[in-house]
Amino acid sequence: MGGGWFDQSAYFSAAGQSPGPWLEPVLLEVTDSTNDVAARLAALGCPEGQLVVAREQLRGRGRLGRTWSSGPGGLWFSMVLRPVQSAGGLVCLPLVTAVGVAEAIQQLTGLDPGLKWPNDLLVGGRKLAGILHELGRDWVVAGVGLNANQPGMPGELKARATSIYLETGAAVALEVLLGTIAPRVMERYHQAQRGDLEPVLDAWRSRSVTLGRPVVVTTPVGTITGAAEDIDDYGRLLVRTGQGLVAVAAGDIGLEG
Ligand code: BTN
Repeated sequence: MGGGWFDQSAYFSAAGQSPGPWLEPVLLEVTDSTNDVAARLAALGCPEGQLVVAREQLRGRGRLGRTWSSGPGGLWFSMVLRPVQSAGGLVCLPLVTAVGVAEAIQQLTGLDPGLKWPNDLLVGGRKLAGILHELGRDWVVAGVGLNANQPGMPGELKARATSIYLETGAAVALEVLLGTIAPRVMERYHQAQRGDLEPVLDAWRSRSVTLGRPVVVTTPVGTITGAAEDIDDYGRLLVRTGQGLVAVAAGDIGLEG
C-alpha cells in the first residue's frame, strides 16, 4: 500500500481549499479494481467520502461489462457514497458525479468536457473519462477513470479516447487532480442529496453533447431510436420516438449524425 507515486500532502493542500474534512485516500500501487477495494471498505462500514486510488489497475472495468484500460499515467479512483435518497435520487447519481468531475477538470485544466448520457466525459468527441457506479446494501461506489497524463492511447482506443496531456500538452499532478475533483463531486452530491437537484441537472444539460441529437440507445431490454430531447428529474434520458416520448433509465447511446 502507499508509495512514492502519490504525494498525500499535495492532495491535502489541493482538497483543503474546500470545506472538509478530507479523509486520507487509500493508495495502491497496483490492484485489480479500485471499485472492488472501495466496495469491501464500504461493506465494512467506512465513512462516506472514502477514496481509493491506484497507480495501475489490472482488471479495471467499465460500464456494461467492458474492460477499462488502466495503466500508469491515468487517475483511477473510487469514492464511497452513502446516499440517503429515494431510488429516484439514485438514478440521478451518475449525472451528478459526472457534473462534479467535469467542473473540476475545467477549473484545473481549462478544458471544457462535454457529457454524453449518462456520464461519459468527452473532449473533441473523444472520451476523456468514464464513471462506473456500483451499488451495495447501503452504499454506492463511484469509480472514476480519467485519462490524465498518458502521452498516447493504446491500439484501437486511439480513435476514441484522449487524455488531458494529449489535449493540453501539459502533464497534471494526479494528487492535485484528485484534490480538485473529490471536493467538487462531494459538493454537487450534497446539493443533490439536499433535494436541490435542478442546478445540478441544469449544469448537466449545459454540458450535454447528447440532447437535441438523434440517438440509438441500447438498453437491457432492447434498442430505442429517436431524438434525445431532455433528461427528467430522475436523470433518465427522454427520447422522442415514433411511438412517443420514452424515458430511458439505463443504457448506452450511440450518437447519430
Ligand atoms: C465507463 O466509462 O465505462 C466507466 C469506466 C470507469 C473506470 C473506473 S477506473 C476506477 C474504477 N475502477 C474500475 O474498475 N472502474 C472504475
